[in-house]
This record gives sequence, C-alpha cells and structure tokens, in this order.
Amino acid sequence: MLTLLLRSWSALGCLLVLSLPPISRQEERGKLLLVSFDGFRWDYIHRVPTPHFDAIMREGVQVDRVVNSYITKTLPNHYTLVTGLHAESHGIVANEMFDPHLNRSFSMDGQSAYESRWWEEAVPLWVTNQRAGRRSGAAMWPGSDVEIRGAYPTHYLPYNASVPFQSRVAQLLSWFAGPDPIDFGVLYWEEPDESGHNLGPESPLLDVVIADIDDKLGFLRDQLKWAGLYDDVNLIVTSDHGMTQLSSVKIIELDSYVGRDKYTWVDKSPVVGIIPKEGCFDEVYNSLLNANPNLYVYKREDIPDHYHYRHNDRIMPILLEAREGWTIVQNKTKKMMLGNHGYNNTLPSMHPVFVARGPAFRSNYVKDTMHSVDLYPLMCHILGVPPMPNNGSLANVQDLLKEGPPVGPARVPAPPPAPTHTPAPTPRPLAPSKPREPSYAWVVGLLLGTALVVIFLFVFVKQVTLKQVPTLPLGNREISQPLLYEELRL
Ligand SMILES: *[C@@H]1O[C@H](CO)[C@@H](O)[C@H](O)[C@H]1NC(C)=O
Ligand SMILES: *[C@@H]1O[C@H](CO)[C@@H](O)[C@H](O)[C@H]1NC(C)=O
Ligand SMILES: *[C@@H]1O[C@H](CO)[C@@H](O)[C@H](O)[C@H]1NC(C)=O
Ligand SMILES: *[C@@H]1O[C@H](CO)[C@@H](O)[C@H](O)[C@H]1NC(C)=O
Ligand SMILES: *[C@@H]1O[C@H](CO)[C@@H](O)[C@H](O)[C@H]1NC(C)=O
Ligand SMILES: [Zn+2]
Repeated sequence: MLTLLLRSWSALGCLLVLSLPPISRQEERGKLLLVSFDGFRWDYIHRVPTPHFDAIMREGVQVDRVVNSYITKTLPNHYTLVTGLHAESHGIVANEMFDPHLNRSFSMDGQSAYESRWWEEAVPLWVTNQRAGRRSGAAMWPGSDVEIRGAYPTHYLPYNASVPFQSRVAQLLSWFAGPDPIDFGVLYWEEPDESGHNLGPESPLLDVVIADIDDKLGFLRDQLKWAGLYDDVNLIVTSDHGMTQLSSVKIIELDSYVGRDKYTWVDKSPVVGIIPKEGCFDEVYNSLLNANPNLYVYKREDIPDHYHYRHNDRIMPILLEAREGWTIVQNKTKKMMLGNHGYNNTLPSMHPVFVARGPAFRSNYVKDTMHSVDLYPLMCHILGVPPMPNNGSLANVQDLLKEGPPVGPARVPAPPPAPTHTPAPTPRPLAPSKPREPSYAWVVGLLLGTALVVIFLFVFVKQVTLKQVPTLPLGNREISQPLLYEELRL
C-alpha cells in the first residue's frame, strides 16, 4: 500500500506538471520507448484487422513506409535505428562479417557478437542517453547486452529468445516505473520475422502471426496504462525490414559459375560478400559478372552511391545481390526458406512499419515516407539528449512532432521521391492541424489540469478499490497486476 501511495503521489506530481502552462517546453526531457517487431513489413497492418496499431495511428502518427538502410538485414538496421548511421558508418555491415584488420569473423548467433570492438565504430543512443546523465533500459534489442564504449544500458536483459514478450514488457515497465526510472527503453521481439521466413509473406497463415503481434501491442498498451505511463511515455513502434516471397525455382547456384576453392563467402543470401582467394580476384569477378541476369555483381568501389555501403573494410571486395525474390546458394539443397529480406532498400517489400504516439507527437497524422536514419535525431530531440554525428536530419521528420511546423490541410511533402517502382502514395484525408495558440495555452492548461486532477482522484480511488479485490476479471493474474512486476523472475 505504501508503494501504491508513493506511486500515486508521483503520478499526481506528473499530472500537476502536465497541467502547468508550457513555458519551458524546450527544456522538457521526454520519456521514450522504442519497440521493434522484427520483420514487420509496412503493409502488414492492411491485411488483417490491427485495432491496436490503428489506435496508435489515431492517437499519434503513422509513416506509411520507412526507407531502411542497406543491407536490409536485422543487425545493420537495428543499429541504424539507434545510431542514425548508414551501415558503412556504424560498422555492423551484415549479420555475418569478416574484419580484415582484426582477422576475425563475426556471427550474430555466436560469441563474437559479444565482442565490443565490432560495435564501437558508433555509439548507440542508450549510451549517449546515459552520458547525458539519464537512464536506459533494454529488453533484447540487438547489441544491447554488449559492452559498447565502456557501457551497458543502465538495465538490460541478456539475450534469450525464449523469454516471452510479456516478461520483456514487464521488465521494461518496472524500469520505467521504478525508484530510479529510466527515460529511454528499447524492446525487441523476434516475430513476425521468423514466421515470415518459414511461411513466406504471401501465406495466409501469416495473418494469424500479424494478428498476434497486434495483440502483443495491445498488451503493451494496457500495461502502460495500468502502470500510469501511457500519457508520459512516447511510444514508437517500428521494425528493421520487411519480407518478400521466395520461390524454389528462383535460385542462383554459384557452383555453376565459379569453383568454391576460388573464394570465401561471408553472410547469407540475398546479399553475399565474396573474398576471392589470393590472386583469384579477376577470375572470380569475371566469372560472376553477367553470369546470371538475376544476380548483381559489384566490386566494392562500384557499389551504387545510394546504398551508402562502400566505405568500410568489413564490406567485402566483391558483393553479390540477388534480384528480389531470388536466392543465392552454392548448390541447390532441399530445404529452402519461403521468405527473405536483405535486398535493395528501395524495394517497397523491404520497408518496415512505423507508428508512434505520446506527448511529443501530433495526433492523427500520416506521413508518406521517412528514412530510418532520421529516427535517431528525432529520438534525441524527444529525450533532450545531444545527438552524436549521424546521417539523419530532424528537419525531415519534425512534422511528426506536436511542436513541429504547422501542417496545412495537404500532406506534408515527402522526402525525395523513392526511385521508380515505388507505388504512388494513396492520398489520405488528414486531420486538420491544430496550431498552438500560446495566449490560450495557459487557460487550457489550467482547465486541463483541473480535469486531470479530478480524473486522477477517481482513478486513485478505483485502484485502491481494485487492490482489495482478490481476483481480477482477467485471465492472467501476473499480467493484470503491474504492481507485482518485481515478483516476476526472469
Ligand atoms: C588470420 O587468422 C587465421 C586463423 O584464424 C590464420 O590462419 C591466419 O594466418 C591469420 N592471418 C593473418 C594475416 O594473421
Ligand atoms: C531463457 O529463458 C527461458 C524462459 O524464461 C528460461 O527457461 C531459460 O533458462 C533461459 N535461458 C538462459 C540461458 O538463461
Ligand atoms: C552440393 O554440395 C555438397 C557439398 O559440397 C555436395 O555434397 C553435393 O553433392 C552437392 N549437390 C549437388 C546437387 O551438386
Ligand atoms: C534498386 O532499386 C532501385 C529502384 O527501386 C533501382 O533504381 C536500382 O537499380 C535497384 N538496384 C538494384 C541493384 O537492384
Ligand atoms: C554519415 O555520418 C557520418 C558521421 O557524421 C559521416 O562520417 C559520413 O560521411 C556520413 N555519410 C554520408 C553518406 O553522409
Ligand atoms: Zn530482422
């Protein structure tokens, strides 16, 4: 009961602060939770009912498609999200890597993934946040259980794929609501990537998985509300990449073109790094170039500019990229995935979802597209943390923010049009913008404050009452009682 009282008082404090006129808006330091559902393609929310994504879109903002960074794989893109850097600049250029200077290999599933030096070409936001005197918490975000530049997140969970989503959420919320609360949290979940690979994105069976992700998002929303955090914490839900359908007849067999003894290959289809054996560069390159119309072959220095994937020695001397839907193997084996990602980052099928809500965000606002590197400066702005040098720009995404430039009845112009086969964006009615009126803000704030205090008292009484009720009308007692987080053993 004491905890409840304390929590309630701090909640009341928050409400009072919220109700004050917004004088020192610039100095406000927001709270932020960044969530990634691995492999959640931008259009999955249109194929089954997703009431919780819809609710966040109504309450906040949606970006139709996020142009992610090349290569469109898991580790490079998760590190881009928290650094604002293209892969060539943050150094996690693939899921499997070779560093010629270290003479070492890296594998996302191996012990090498815990070696700091792979990650230290950049500084992730949780570290920068802590350097600014704040606290971070991480639940399974790739790289978050690695010591980087001498620091771990203030709180983190060692990676364990078996830990259920509910436990990850419970841990994070206990850190947000705890005695020394965190300001920045990152949360990772392995689906729908895993099912996307196994079933293929076109399988109707994937609908069930998408619906389940929406349920999980609903669980997160409910828990944030129960913990009294829903109105304080800015919530961003996005992903690292999309997914495209593969076909057992779209196979590129390298053995048909060049002997295995001539090269080492690094990282898997659809983008493969090739290290030719000593003296074999020309032979390997010439054998593969024009060998198959569905195989793009680049010398590292010829990789297209727009990929921003060249200036790093962990990018191999020859890069192979399959055309969308094609798979690169050495020879055909029986077992094949039905979905994959990693392809050209301008392909719509590679693009992730993006929705966000919270005190920093506009409401009911839709933007066509953004680049994933722009999320980092946006998050730094919300947290009130000075950004490290990065490849994004706050100006590109400021319209997502409540305090951003006023938005007229038309959609805000999108960033430079994505090249050719991107479908034209469908126009969508936009809620009329509500420019802030500084002269009324004070009065509105006062009225709002009064209303909030009344609501607070109501909720407080209700919580106290509920606290007496032995069984809640919900299936899972652990889940329905956020005050008992500490009792969940992970
Ligand atoms: C790189 O490491 C391998 C063993 O992993 C070793 O055989 C090789 O000699 C090393 N190369 C250099 C240049 O040190
Ligand atoms: C991973 O999590 C599961 C489920 O919570 C647990 O049973 C298992 O012991 C954990 N594994 C490790 C290595 O901690
Ligand atoms: C594919 O490669 C494996 C390993 O080298 C070999 O055992 C197998 O016979 C090859 N299969 C075909 C169809 O060439
Ligand atoms: C990648 O896609 C863009 C357009 O979406 C296209 O201009 C470019 O040629 C593609 N590159 C490759 C290697 O497929
Ligand atoms: C990305 O940002 C880094 C750090 O500021 C910089 O070194 C690099 O040149 C930038 N890349 C591009 C393509 O601007
Ligand atoms: Zn992924």
